[in-house]
Amino acid sequence: MLKTRTLATVLLGAGLAFTIVPVASAADANSLAEKCGECHGKDGNSSNPKVPNIAGYSTKYIEDALMDYKEGERPGLKFKKEDGTETDMVEIAKKLSEEDIKTIADYYSRQTFKSHAAEQETDPKLVARGEKLFKRKCKKCHTDFGTDPEDDAGILGGQWMEYLRHQFEMFASGEREMPKKMKKKFRKLKKEDYEAIIHALGSK
Ligand code: HEC
Ligand code: HEC
Repeated sequence: MLKTRTLATVLLGAGLAFTIVPVASAADANSLAEKCGECHGKDGNSSNPKVPNIAGYSTKYIEDALMDYKEGERPGLKFKKEDGTETDMVEIAKKLSEEDIKTIADYYSRQTFKSHAAEQETDPKLVARGEKLFKRKCKKCHTDFGTDPEDDAGILGGQWMEYLRHQFEMFASGEREMPKKMKKKFRKLKKEDYEAIIHALGSK
């Protein structure tokens, strides 16, 4: 530190101080992932059913989701961390620069999504009904039970059911906006259809 300051003084004298003036540098992927990893897992596969996996999502989806949170267009669930402090995605995203968002989206898009199918119980009857509904109403935009990141629509198959349930509730109440064409299909679902589709997705 002392050395730097001495150098700065010398350079300042020479009118060259600008060469070492520190610019607010964007956080690197690793230090960002340390923070996100407290909840999402450092590899983007979360061990808490309230927290979605984000590994393998498209960069576009992650960037859009973080911008939606940052701009207050999507509510985030209040979540208690292990140290007892509470926060949510809106608070977290507000602290990220656009540069940080690009960096972390790129990082998580290159991780591998691990399905939670083996860790959560699904009812085979609901799964069968949900699969039919999903194929009829959702698969146009959510390919292969929503496991193709290139849809830019998240990853649904193998996701935590508790997370999905919360999103279904927010879509139904209007707290979370959905694309117009999805709304048309979603509106026609009955309450018991939600659970069937959630079981189908949770089993993938
Ligand atoms: C304190 C825990 C916590 C931390 C830390 C955290 N998240 Fe989240 N994140 C959540 C929860 C909980 C949700 C789901 C919110 C809901 O259900 O409304 C979520 C949702 C998301 C989503 C939306 C996923 C989807 O499928 O739509 C993205 C993207 C995301 N987080 C990225 C990040 C990134 C990037 C970081 C680090 C900069 C981060 N999160 C840090 C808890 C956290
Ligand atoms: C016209 C295309 C389209 C149709 C049809 C569609 N979706 Fe979507 N869906 C999207 C897009 C795009 C997103 C991501 C954009 C966003 O979050 O606003 C999305 C997001 C979602 C999410 C949130 C993902 C996450 O990680 O949080 C869920 C859950 C979902 N859709 C379920 C469904 C279900 C169930 C159906 C059928 C009833 C359906 N969608 C039909 C385009 C569609």
